[in-house]
Amino acid sequence: MELFGTLVLASIVLGLLFFLFRRDSSRYSKMPPGPTPLPFIGNVLQLDSSAIHESIMKLKETYGTVMTVHLGTQRIVALVGFDAVHEALVQQADAFAGRAVSPLIMKLTGDFGLIQSNGERWKQMRRFSLSTMRDFGMGKRSIEKWIQEEAKHLTEEFRKTKGSPCNPTVFLSRAVSNVICSIVFGQRFDYQDKNFLNLLSLMDTNLHLLTSPIGMLYNMFPVFTKLIPGTFNKVVKNMNEIKQFISAMIHQHKAALLNDSPRDFIDSFLIKMKQESDNPATEFNLENLIITVMDLFTAGTETTSTTLQYGLLLLMKYPHIQEKVQKEIDAVIGRGRAPAMEDRRKMSYTDAVLHETQRFIDLVPLNAFHWTTKDTVFRGYTIPAGTVVSPVLHSVLFDKTKWATPYTFNPGHFLDENGCFKMNPAFMPFSAGKRVCAGEGLAKMELFLFFSTLLQNFSFQPTEEPDKISLTPNSKSFFKLPVPYTFFAIPR
Ligand code: HEM
Repeated sequence: MELFGTLVLASIVLGLLFFLFRRDSSRYSKMPPGPTPLPFIGNVLQLDSSAIHESIMKLKETYGTVMTVHLGTQRIVALVGFDAVHEALVQQADAFAGRAVSPLIMKLTGDFGLIQSNGERWKQMRRFSLSTMRDFGMGKRSIEKWIQEEAKHLTEEFRKTKGSPCNPTVFLSRAVSNVICSIVFGQRFDYQDKNFLNLLSLMDTNLHLLTSPIGMLYNMFPVFTKLIPGTFNKVVKNMNEIKQFISAMIHQHKAALLNDSPRDFIDSFLIKMKQESDNPATEFNLENLIITVMDLFTAGTETTSTTLQYGLLLLMKYPHIQEKVQKEIDAVIGRGRAPAMEDRRKMSYTDAVLHETQRFIDLVPLNAFHWTTKDTVFRGYTIPAGTVVSPVLHSVLFDKTKWATPYTFNPGHFLDENGCFKMNPAFMPFSAGKRVCAGEGLAKMELFLFFSTLLQNFSFQPTEEPDKISLTPNSKSFFKLPVPYTFFAIPR
């Protein structure tokens, strides 16, 4: 009797699984082609986990520019090349505007804030964040002044090294992070401030842990956060400390809040919270405030400072390009005043070097993952709602049909025959469409002002022969970080 019961139960379970599988496979029957996945591990054997975008470029030869791959158990549609990425993100913007949140990030921050959210929450957080950042100077003269001031502090720090070897990583992230601090907290921190240094170190450690091989493993197989929990617990602990720091800042802001004159992003959010306190469905709550602030820090600090770090490394590898930039700075700005945004349009070469740096370093090769907000027909395939999509930025920034010499660092990609700056539509390091980087304007301003101020004041020399400098990043799949290096900052 017991055996009979077990058999009946087993057939019901198998029947259900069969039904679910059939239902699932019929939903996905018109998906783009791709390599056959193995149970549980998916296409791990076809995808080099240390450079997934490179494997996808190879698979393109077999499966074309729209393909399905499986990262572990996660099914992902990869879009390859400028045409496919542009068509999805810009021409079918609404359908591809969703954000896929990995189970790992879900465990860490939930779907609060701006980067990880979807639907009405995302719309409200994005609209509010963009307009408030603009109110506090993004894209305007007021933030230009903050950045110029911060660039001055940065040059003082480099001057203190007195020509001895130094690793620029922490210098750059303190300066860049202080720009976000000015918008979010209404203040900058001294470079020696212990709490500030701790905050930066926690963010940096988490980025390294999450992009390390074990972080990748967690992302692909969330079950490993339970099986090998050490690194995961460390990330959670760091994340909680970051949240505590932000909560303490919010607390201080609440105590000194004046309803009619917000001093910064936090004040504006707190005022909005008060205004919406009678609305039970409001998205303006403490959880969204804390995570949105954290989002602006994480998205705004490492991206911009890593770009500067890579930019200086490239200039040491190619000293003739460094000299040419300095000549242009001397001719347009001279040595007697701080670089300003209005100088940029007279500095085509420097602008081209900065754009080429962003293209060549290919910071976020797979982009942040999107998802389809509805069942979507794309190039003859049907992609069901809620499918994870990777608009592979690497494939756009290195698209052979759009760049003359994609694998060479070549500022000429952004110059016309008269040496004037020329934009290329495949310049997409900030992505495109509705989810395009919310800090693009700020990042561009920071890159130009920090970069030109540093080169106005210093020549950067490597501590090894230029041809020995390696441009190969430390970790490649989700965020490309240069191998740590030292240089001599020689005052000019
Ligand atoms: C060189 C610097 C930067 C690069 C290369 C960069 C790149 C990106 C990329 C590729 C995305 C994903 C877009 C997508 O999902 O399609 C993104 C999103 C985002 N970035 Fe940036 N970013 C930079 C600087 C900044 C700065 C300075 C801020 C802060 C103010 C910022 C805030 C954000 C936010 C909030 C999002 C999420 C937008 C959303 O989901 O709606 N980024 N960024």
